[in-house]
Amino acid sequence: MRRAILLSAIFSLVILGSAVDGEATPKKRLDEATQVCRILTFQNSGWASEGSRIFTESCKSCHTRDNDRGATFLHSESKTMAAWNRVFYEKYPQCAKSGQWDRLSAEDLRKLNDYLFRNAANTYNPNDADDCG
Ligand code: HEC
Repeated sequence: MRRAILLSAIFSLVILGSAVDGEATPKKRLDEATQVCRILTFQNSGWASEGSRIFTESCKSCHTRDNDRGATFLHSESKTMAAWNRVFYEKYPQCAKSGQWDRLSAEDLRKLNDYLFRNAANTYNPNDADDCG
């Protein structure tokens, strides 16, 4: 019995392990609001992109580790690709509703969405040439 439990635990670890393996970095993103397929490259959505800069300047002003603004720590890997799309499509966060995003243009928000989507949780795959070299 014990052995069966151990074996099934090992088995589910193997299955889970393969499920959480990173997918490759996405090459495009369908922007639901505009129905435009946005092509993602390192230049326009990598960590040196404009979207990354907007995130640092306009979001990390609050969402840093141990901040005193009551904001959770956020980085691109805090959410999956689908979850980041939902953040920007629905604009449900409290800070979006209270006007903290107002000075960003619609295009700035799309660039920010591109950056966070491209670098979201599970998007790093060491076997993908794009991620490795
Ligand atoms: C003035 C401070 C402030 C700024 C600037 C700010 N936020 Fe927030 N944000 C908050 C607070 C406070 C909350 C509510 C507490 C929480 O859930 O983190 C929140 C909530 C959120 C949430 C929900 C939390 C979660 O874990 O899902 C997301 C996503 C988010 N913000 C994203 C952003 C993005 C993207 C930007 C930049 C465009 C941004 N925030 C800018 C203060 C801020």
